[in-house]
Amino acid sequence: MAVAQLRFGPVALLVVLSALAVTPLYNYPVAGAIEPAAKQISTNTPQCSGSQKLAVFGDGDCSPKPITVPVTASSSTNPPPRPLYVVAPTRPGNYPVFLFAHGTFISNNLYSGLLSHISSHGYIVVAPQLFDSILSLPCELEEIEYLEQVTNWMPSATALPSHLPPGVLPDFDKLAVGGHSRGGKSAFALALGLCTKPLKLTISAVVGVDPVAGVSKNSRTDPVILTYEPESLNLSVPVAVIGSGLGNQSEVIDLPACAPNWVNHAEFYSECMAPKSHLVADDYGHMDVVDDVSWFERDFKGMFDFALTKLMCKGASGLFSSREKMRKGVGGIVVAFLDAYLGGGGSDDYLAILESPLEVDSPVKLTVGYKLEKGTAAAGDI
Ligand SMILES: *[C@@H]1O[C@H](CO)[C@@H](O)[C@H](O)[C@H]1NC(C)=O
Ligand SMILES: *[C@@H]1O[C@H](CO)[C@@H](O)[C@H](O)[C@H]1NC(C)=O
Repeated sequence: MAVAQLRFGPVALLVVLSALAVTPLYNYPVAGAIEPAAKQISTNTPQCSGSQKLAVFGDGDCSPKPITVPVTASSSTNPPPRPLYVVAPTRPGNYPVFLFAHGTFISNNLYSGLLSHISSHGYIVVAPQLFDSILSLPCELEEIEYLEQVTNWMPSATALPSHLPPGVLPDFDKLAVGGHSRGGKSAFALALGLCTKPLKLTISAVVGVDPVAGVSKNSRTDPVILTYEPESLNLSVPVAVIGSGLGNQSEVIDLPACAPNWVNHAEFYSECMAPKSHLVADDYGHMDVVDDVSWFERDFKGMFDFALTKLMCKGASGLFSSREKMRKGVGGIVVAFLDAYLGGGGSDDYLAILESPLEVDSPVKLTVGYKLEKGTAAAGDI
């Protein structure tokens, strides 16, 4: 570990310095709040269920397939505004859509394990690549614009539907957005309407996977959304905030934690309104949801990804061990949440996870808090 850190110290430092260098360039007007969407917990039967006791933590039966959609597809007359990593069921059917924003410098396909898990349960996951190279990071306002552009591109018949397996149809009336780290915050911003153009689709649920709003309370990325007032984020849709218990601890001495106090999941949860839930994987770190990047990659991108995802943030696993449990745990929570609010599998699994997190065979130990209805007291100790 120490040797590896020495060797990758300069790369790691570059990553952090670049991340810190992100400064607001301009202010976008607010395009108007998202219309309130259906908040009822659904009771439909699942389209693709797994075989384990709590099916959401196991693989679903939809045979997910990764699909790469470049911006310059010669065969396509309507290429997406950003390169996309899509994971879609191959079993014919009508599936809800989950738009997912990656974290700072983390390539969209480094979430293949997590996104494939979600898709296997009957979701079309669309993960745009929001930066072009590790030498240039767009500011977060630009990333949110890209998310808006992808959202507005998707529904046309020559857009997302034309890239899906035969018989697989997106149900754009059931759209959720989510993201990891900075992408988690961008998902909140998109749902709050903080983009220049109105969205053509309605967002019905928001998932923050260890969302981060900056390096500290006084150094937040634009657009600033945290207010430090409880229940001040009026999203009008159900929210799940998933946190990592180790995310607020430093891995590299003298550098900030990857998900520091006051700008991390705890503050996001506090500022959301019901229906909201907060699920913290106590023993896992900020990067433990991404794929296991091999140490043996010889190219610069591979080494960069290794340094970024293995050396920068405190995590549960050693340098060479698998993060599968966290991916399955987070994937299962996302599926249960989406099933509860977007149809699909119904609400039983989600309520079971919230009400008895220690009894649902979750792959990771969870501490849970929630408030599912306005005017009621919050449950849970966080
Ligand atoms: C939240 O937003 C919705 C729709 O935009 C609005 O109807 C409602 O009054 C807002 N609630 C609060 C507490 O601001
Ligand atoms: C991390 O967050 C937890 C829960 O909010 C808190 O109890 C703990 O003290 C924090 N650790 C650090 C190093 O700030």
